[in-house]
Amino acid sequence: MVFHVITIFPEFFRGPFDYGVVARAAQAGKLRIEIHNLRDWTGDRHKTVDDRPFGGGEGMVLKPEPIFHAVESILPDRNEQDRVILLSPQGRLFDQREAVRLSRYRRLVLICGRYEGVDERVAEHLADEELSIGDYVLSGGELAAAVVIDAVARLVEGVLGNEQSALRESFQDPEAPALLDYPQYTRPAEFRGWKAPEVLLSGNHEEIRRWRRQAALAKTARMRPELLEKLRN
Ligand code: ADE
Repeated sequence: MVFHVITIFPEFFRGPFDYGVVARAAQAGKLRIEIHNLRDWTGDRHKTVDDRPFGGGEGMVLKPEPIFHAVESILPDRNEQDRVILLSPQGRLFDQREAVRLSRYRRLVLICGRYEGVDERVAEHLADEELSIGDYVLSGGELAAAVVIDAVARLVEGVLGNEQSALRESFQDPEAPALLDYPQYTRPAEFRGWKAPEVLLSGNHEEIRRWRRQAALAKTARMRPELLEKLRN
């Protein structure tokens, strides 16, 4: 799978993908992440990417031409195995289900919005979809793109050592959809007087399984009661 990121801050992506599972997968050739500088697709001496909003108002708006030019150059043979995504707070909410869906594409192009907005013709006529990573406003789409890439990349076959570990965790357990993960413990069995649940040290796999299911339900009820509501419906 190939991820293409279009940004005016290419340097931003030094770091997030240099460590951990995604970095190792890229080194092993399971996926590729290409960062593109939007200014490379401007036509003027000043490499202008933004302009004042029609109708007035604060801030600057990203111009459509460089973004269209960038996507059309990156995907000259664009087809249904490709997906062009605009990151913005106005998008549909990204979640694990969306991550699974996106992991089936061959190439993802992620357009990072900036400033006060992106000319709407990008959302209307260039992007296949507009995604938000949450109901808060970031100063740009770069962090959002990094979040989407991380969540999608780890679902790509061969990226996690153990295929099961992606499937088993929160939100994706086929037996317990939309449940938070159960609490985990490791050594020491007692730390500052707080003990790890004894059942986890018992070696009784059936009891451990039951305890985990129960603990996951309890934690979900406490932290995210609305997920249990969804489960009932
Ligand atoms: N850009 C600014 N805020 C964002 C958000 N919440 N999600 C995606 N892109 C954004």
